[in-house]
Parts: sequence; structure tokens; C-alpha cells
Amino acid sequence: MSQTVTLTQAEKPISYDINIPYVKVSDDLEKNVKYPKYLPTWDKIWFDPLQPFEYEDPALRVQDKSKPNLLPAGTKVSHIQPCIGSVVEGVQLNKLSDAAKDELALLISERKVVAFPEQDLIDAGPEAQYEFMRHFGKPNYQPISGSMKGYPGFHIIHRDGNVDEINRFLEQRTTTTLWHQDVSYEIQPPAYVLLGLLQGPDVGGDTVFAATDAAYKRLSPTFQSFIDGLKAVHSSSKMINHARLTGGLVRKDSVQTVHPLVRVHPVTGEKCLFINGEFITKIQGLKEPEFHTMQEFLMQHMITGHDFQARVRWQPRTIVMFDNRSTMHSAVVDYIDEDTGAKPRHIFRLCALGEKPIPVNAREK
Ligand code: SIN
Repeated sequence: MSQTVTLTQAEKPISYDINIPYVKVSDDLEKNVKYPKYLPTWDKIWFDPLQPFEYEDPALRVQDKSKPNLLPAGTKVSHIQPCIGSVVEGVQLNKLSDAAKDELALLISERKVVAFPEQDLIDAGPEAQYEFMRHFGKPNYQPISGSMKGYPGFHIIHRDGNVDEINRFLEQRTTTTLWHQDVSYEIQPPAYVLLGLLQGPDVGGDTVFAATDAAYKRLSPTFQSFIDGLKAVHSSSKMINHARLTGGLVRKDSVQTVHPLVRVHPVTGEKCLFINGEFITKIQGLKEPEFHTMQEFLMQHMITGHDFQARVRWQPRTIVMFDNRSTMHSAVVDYIDEDTGAKPRHIFRLCALGEKPIPVNAREK
């Protein structure tokens, strides 16, 4: 005879990604919000699968690599680390011409992560933010996360509380970090990603990035030639199944795509490792233990390679734009408050979908 098992609080499934609640956690949370219009909503919209499309990277249109339209005299560019990350001051993104936006795409391709503090675009409203990002590629519609009413291209990252959820998460996990490339399972994953800080803790809540081209270069030629031709299966099914299991809304069927394990960057020509800890289910041609060992090795190589990483410390009204092809990233949920769970951190994300990942030796095939 079957028996219904009631799960205790501790046994219930924990949050998929503690940086982003996938269901509304509490009405109380809205009290501390500076930008209520950007609170996540879970409208029952359904998205059809993405169809293949032509993509022209705006960076490839740039003739003058000194970027005179984006970086006129008086603009300050400071590097976070030698090979990754810059902070640009003296530029207002909402004032850029199309030529300057092309140069911005080039700067992001070169530096991988670029932060722009004190941006008026943060207060320009969703229409202006959405239009700005359209220059860089087609929007992505996130299958499960909270979005903005009327603006399904906005993926809302909002954490404020909830102590029980965070405690249960940390009872089962040793860290809040979840290293990934955004939406890597799509047939044409995002090339450029914009994160806009609406509200954040005074200290903490940084985002860490690793350069996947530098990580590739550190491997031995023997290992590089072994992985150059491999292909990995990326899938959104774990994320979607988790949303269903925890009563979250699902807006799209799961997507499973085979991508090269090493992809060539269309602007820099560099080879980039394209593997993450979130969406990869298999490497074609490898047996399961071989796949797990390979994934574990490559992930540890990138996560522990602090000499090719940058940590972005958010300043008020900062917009960060990053290259999703040559980086892997994770939010850091270290702004835990003992009474409520977490201090408010509120970010909107817009993605610009890019090219179908280019394999090594694509022209020879
Ligand atoms: C993300 O993982 O896409 C968001 C990063 C962040 O919240 O800092």
C-alpha cells in the first residue's frame, strides 16, 4: 500500500540558485525596494523555441580600434586585472551613438568585463534599457525566472531575505557560488550581457568572472589538441525540472543543444573553453566517469585560476557589460543578514543573443 511521505522543512528541495528566487518568497520583501517597478513577476507567457538567425557582431564593424566615439579625451579607463575587467568613468551609456556602441562591443570583446558606475541609463526606464541592448543582438527570454510586467526580456535578480531558505540552502551547500555562462543551452547563446544594479548592499554581492580564453591557453598543447574537437551537450532541463518541482512557473520547454567544448571568439579569434557547472550533461564520445572527470578538471582549472579572474565590486547605479563567450561568472551571495537572511540586492539582466558557437577549425570543416 502506498504511503504519502511528508517532507520536513529540511528535506524539501533547496533553491536552485540562491542568487535568484524563482518563486515569490514573501510580500514583506517589497518594503525595502528602491525600484518596485522592477520587482520580479511570473506572468504565464509561453515562449516558442528560438529559431536560427543571422548574427552580425557589432564589434566587427569597428574600423578605428582606438574607439574615438566611445572613449573621447577625458574618459578614464582603469583595468581591474591585466587580462580581464575594466572600469570606465566619464561615459554615459544612454548618450552613445551607434558607432560608439559598436566600439563598446569591441571594448567588451577585448576586456571581457566592463563596469560603468553612476549610469543615467539605470533610471531611464525599461524601454530605453531594452532599446540600448537591442543594438548588441536579439533579446533572450528566460524560461523560468521572474521578469518585469510587459518586458519579458528582463531577467530580474532580486534577493532580500528569506532566512529559512538561505539557511536550508547553506545546510546542504558549502558555497553560494554557481559558475556558469548565461543561457549556454540555447542554439545561439548570448554574446553580450548587461547587468544593471538597481540596489545593492554597501559591501558584498560582488560578481566574479573568469577568462575562458586565458584558461584555454594555460592547458598543454597535448591537452588542447585532445579537447579542440570535442562537443558538449548543454541542457536547461535540470533548471526547468527544478522549477516544476518547487512550484515555480515554466515559460518554455527545455532546450538541449550540442556545442563545441572549445569555441572560437568571432572578434578576437581566441579559443575559449565553453563548459560550465550548470547546464552541461555530457561530452560526446566520453564515457560517464571520463566526462565527470573532464568537467571537474576544467571547472576547477577555471574556478581556481585567480590569475585570470576579475571580481567586480558594484558601486551605485553601475552597469556591467560582459562577454558571455570568453567568460564564466558567478554571483557571490555573502551579504547575509542574521535576522532576515540577506540584505537587498536588485539587478536587471538583459542578454543579446549572438552567433552559433564557432568550433575550432570551422573553416576547414
Ligand atoms: C547571473 O548569474 O547571471 C547574475 C550575476 C549576478 O547576480 O551578479
